[in-house]
Amino acid sequence: MTITLALVQTHPRFLALEKNHAHAVELIDSTDADVYVLPELYLNGYAFSNLDELARTALPAENRYFDELLAISMEKGIAICGGYAESARGDAGPTFFNSAFLIADGELLVNYRKTHLFFRETQFFTAGDTGFSVVEWRDVRLGVMICFDWFYPEAARALALAGADVILHPSNLVLPYCQKAMYARAVENRVFIATVNRVGRETNTHGDDLTFTGASQLVSPSGEYLVTLPIDSEEVRTVEIDPTVARSKQINEFNDLLAGRRPEFYR
Ligand code: ACM
Repeated sequence: MTITLALVQTHPRFLALEKNHAHAVELIDSTDADVYVLPELYLNGYAFSNLDELARTALPAENRYFDELLAISMEKGIAICGGYAESARGDAGPTFFNSAFLIADGELLVNYRKTHLFFRETQFFTAGDTGFSVVEWRDVRLGVMICFDWFYPEAARALALAGADVILHPSNLVLPYCQKAMYARAVENRVFIATVNRVGRETNTHGDDLTFTGASQLVSPSGEYLVTLPIDSEEVRTVEIDPTVARSKQINEFNDLLAGRRPEFYR
């Protein structure tokens, strides 16, 4: 069984939701694939200066941009994953999450809230409360994590233990070594990992000057870089994979990756 993944590396413009969304749709329309992956916060941009900027542009998981993605996914029979700033109603007012959606065949299959917040995100967002889960779509088992979740190998391991064939990893990376680390996450879990990053630079009133590192990539369970995108320009690249390859955790005749774990010695 094969599916085609599209890594959609974009340059979101800060708080320009309309423009960022229209551009993402244009890129999705320009390419044939089954599963499309956009960056973290593809709608909003990243470098918030204050809570007001976030409050003005965060959206509930039902919103008109997703309505369009739901319709496109239904019409084309595809899945689309990407990140957005989510506004959720709480007793004491709205709570903001750095979230990622997986929309497929006209349905919101996953709304994942980022577990590990990075740097100034901790000032504006609430740490996610969804945990990690895997959904099956067209016989492919898909898991979602967001950017800095990579720093915690437990995230990818939790998704592997939940049966993921492919981890979709929308990102806004600024540190230089995630792409190398994700190679290890793919090999040590024997899963495919699509890390889809953004490009461009953003500053804010705190003096943060962030250059996003591009270089989106797809790594196979056996450690092949199946796609590597440029560090500084938008690009969409597709690749066909057999996701069921990730289901064999047999490293050799003596070692099964997951069966060989010794969780009694790990915390
Ligand atoms: C990050 O988590 N956006 C670095």
